[in-house]
Amino acid sequence: MRPTLVLLQSQCLLCVFVGVCVPSAVVGSLPHSLPWRVSCPVRCMCQIKPWFSPDSVYHEAPTVDCNDLLLTKLPLPIPLDTHTLRLQSNLLSELDTGVLHRLPNLTDLDLSQNRFSRVQSIPQSSSLPSLLSLHLEENHLSHLPEASFSSLPALQELFLSHNILHSIAPGAFTGLDSLLRLHINNNRLTTVDPQWFRSLPHLEVLMLGGNPVEALPEQGFVALRSLQSLVLGGMGLRGLAEKALEGLDGLESLSFYDNLLTKVPTLALRRVPGLKFLDLNKNRIKLIETGDFRDMIHLKELGLNNMEELVSIEKAALENLPELTN
Ligand SMILES: *[C@@H]1O[C@H](CO)[C@@H](O)[C@H](O)[C@H]1NC(C)=O
Repeated sequence: MRPTLVLLQSQCLLCVFVGVCVPSAVVGSLPHSLPWRVSCPVRCMCQIKPWFSPDSVYHEAPTVDCNDLLLTKLPLPIPLDTHTLRLQSNLLSELDTGVLHRLPNLTDLDLSQNRFSRVQSIPQSSSLPSLLSLHLEENHLSHLPEASFSSLPALQELFLSHNILHSIAPGAFTGLDSLLRLHINNNRLTTVDPQWFRSLPHLEVLMLGGNPVEALPEQGFVALRSLQSLVLGGMGLRGLAEKALEGLDGLESLSFYDNLLTKVPTLALRRVPGLKFLDLNKNRIKLIETGDFRDMIHLKELGLNNMEELVSIEKAALENLPELTN
């Protein structure tokens, strides 16, 4: 089920965040990769490739692709004007940060599916002023200390899903003032600390699902004034405090897929009146009652599938939802 959700979610995010900015005609006429004549590290591929920034700006990106090479060290020489460096699916546990430091235009660094267990062994000391996107999914990270990414002041996307994170220091994300997207789903977090989010005033997308968190704190997301999409799937949530979603004034998409909710968290949902997409699929809700979705006048899509315990939906429960199409 999970891959389907991720796909649906990303399609939804795509239409909300990319579709608006990138008309399909433009996508249809994208140039393919171009040759990049440069001294390339052995077994890697160096090409100029199309690249979109997290806020959908198109670039022709000098790209070094060293995926799947069983590398234990950075391959050399990395061309100085490298924009995108792909090191996915190798055996890296440390980086020679001096090498990265000499790449002033490095914008996208993919270290997913490697063996990093400490974030300190990633670009800590060396500042990467141009880096917008950092992929660290599927590593062995268990803890994020204070100011883990403070050497990456421009970062807009940070992917930390599918690690074994069980603790994150309150100020771990300090300095990430430009961050738009944070994925910390599928880790081992048991609590959500509101302090994590204090330094992320521009965050638009937060994926937190797949962590064994049984209860969310009151006003836990209040610092996330710009948040548009929040994914809380697969967490074991049994209910939601009345003020759990307080402050999320711009929230458009919310997923509670695969939790243990026994009723619609009506009071909490009243705090997010702008919601357009609400996914309650695969919960233990028995009854959908009149008033459960009151005043959610912008709701376009409502997911109530896969509810084995659902006995009935009161007739008036779905009244006054003028925008609902799905
Ligand atoms: C970095 O990018 C700028 C702007 O595109 C360019 O002028 C500069 O030469 C690049 N730096 C390197 C080391 O290639």
